[in-house]
Amino acid sequence: MQEIIRQLDEKRAAARLGGGQKRIDSQHAKGKLTARERIELLLDAGSFEEWDMFKEHRCTDFGMDKDSVPGDGVVTGYGTINGRLAFVFSQDFTVFGGSLSEAHAEKICKIMDHAMKVGAPVIGLNDSGGARIQEGVASLGGYAEVFQRNVMASGVIPQISLIMGPCAGGAVYSPAMTDFIFMVKDSSYMFVTGPEVVKTVTHEEVTAEELGGAVTHNTKSGVADLGFENDVEALMLTRRLFNYLPLSNREKPPVRPTPDPADRIEMSLDTLVPDNPNKPYDMKELIVKTVDDGDFFELQPDHAKNIIIGFARMEGSTVGIVANQPLVLAGCLDIKSSIKAGRFVRFCDAFNIPVVTFVDVPGFMPGTAQEYGGIIKHGAKLLYAYAECTVPKVTVITRKAYGGAYDVMSSKHLRGDVNFAWPTAEIAVMGPKGAVEIIFREEKNDPEKIAARTEEYRQKFANPFIAGHRGYIDDVIMPHETRKRICRSLAMLKDKQLENPWRKHGNIPL
Ligand code: HXC
Repeated sequence: MQEIIRQLDEKRAAARLGGGQKRIDSQHAKGKLTARERIELLLDAGSFEEWDMFKEHRCTDFGMDKDSVPGDGVVTGYGTINGRLAFVFSQDFTVFGGSLSEAHAEKICKIMDHAMKVGAPVIGLNDSGGARIQEGVASLGGYAEVFQRNVMASGVIPQISLIMGPCAGGAVYSPAMTDFIFMVKDSSYMFVTGPEVVKTVTHEEVTAEELGGAVTHNTKSGVADLGFENDVEALMLTRRLFNYLPLSNREKPPVRPTPDPADRIEMSLDTLVPDNPNKPYDMKELIVKTVDDGDFFELQPDHAKNIIIGFARMEGSTVGIVANQPLVLAGCLDIKSSIKAGRFVRFCDAFNIPVVTFVDVPGFMPGTAQEYGGIIKHGAKLLYAYAECTVPKVTVITRKAYGGAYDVMSSKHLRGDVNFAWPTAEIAVMGPKGAVEIIFREEKNDPEKIAARTEEYRQKFANPFIAGHRGYIDDVIMPHETRKRICRSLAMLKDKQLENPWRKHGNIPL
């Protein structure tokens, strides 16, 4: 018996060593943690329950029958984050470069299947050279098995991907179908085809970092949601994100008690909106001053900055925040911001997270770049997302809500539950200047007349009361009371029930 136990210990130790000390040292030299070190930081101390530590590949080609490592390049299992269940897989770059074999894929699929059965999130720590080259199509089949599960899990359990090393070729499509992608600067990259292929096909010279590094995907492409300086920071912030999320679509989001009073008054908000309607202000100030403890977990802060998205809490409960940002492109909606916010609203809706929307939007961005890029279809994504959304929706218009963008931004007509406006709100088809130039075109050479008409239009329409008369706005509120009014609305909406008609699925404009 003692001998058998000793042998088990040895086997475990061998598995823990992965590809060996030399490769572990090389991983550390690149500033990267090992697969197991990452899990230790991600999960609560001592909570990790590992599965399939002894699983090995079945490949016999290219000398692989003599080359096998227990665990086959991925560590899988479950544990807790602040006491709440999470499933995890962590690719081990020290074993065949973390490449995905059939057996490696089976390990990932096993934890995904269990996560679906019990209703708990899956967190994937990706660090892999892609398909296990020695296995060929068996590896491709393994990827597709993971993809299929990613899709089935979408909207059922939260899925979070951390990219902590290479992630290239078709391998990118598993993280792409998860809800959030975090990347580590200078040590991770994602691309469909690498720099060499790019050079051959398009003659562009580009480094891996430029093509698909953390900065690229957090600014240009919007593929990633956040970028971090190192593995530790990425893992710590994943724990923070996790705290906002329900374990599955069958649950309400977790509640974290707060000392911040729900009726806290914030007098400084009364002067947030400048007198000059063309002067910008920082919408983040409103968000931070409204939510619990000023704690706002922003996503995609460096991509499509004209819209702000992220999680916060109101009276302890998670809310999703969507807000136009007048500091960037005057807060206009464009292709990137519509996609960014549309996807976020859909996540919130799938996971029972109420959406709070702050509106200051002069309209959709004009121009050929936008039209040729398909703003019609992409803008419709955000409209569609808000319209199908059945979770509580509370909207506050701080200043401009013009044209189609007024409709899109969680308006009453898209089943906004509570729609407030500040007294500074201007709700109209367009801004006074543009409106007058169209309806009084014949007076355009008379600046005095145009100025008078503009002022008349401003008086008549650039306010919240026309919308208020029609009931499109439930109340015009004092800016300093914004937190209190939103908290009360959300409390009233706590048990909201609303269902969309049965259908196989809608056809969101992709
Ligand atoms: C098997 C692999 C591997 C792979 C790396 N290794 N990638 N083994 N299959 N895909 C092994 C290496 O042989 C090496 O083994 C160890 O992992 C570390 O690799 P290095 O090259 O020494 O590391 P580094 O210099 O950091 O370079 C990492 C890398 C490079 C950029 C990822 O290894 C690389 O280019 N690999 C091939 C990538 C690739 O073409 N993958 C297939 C993509 S197609 P030793 O024994 O020396 O430690 C794909 C399709 C998916 O993934 C489709 C899904 C639908």
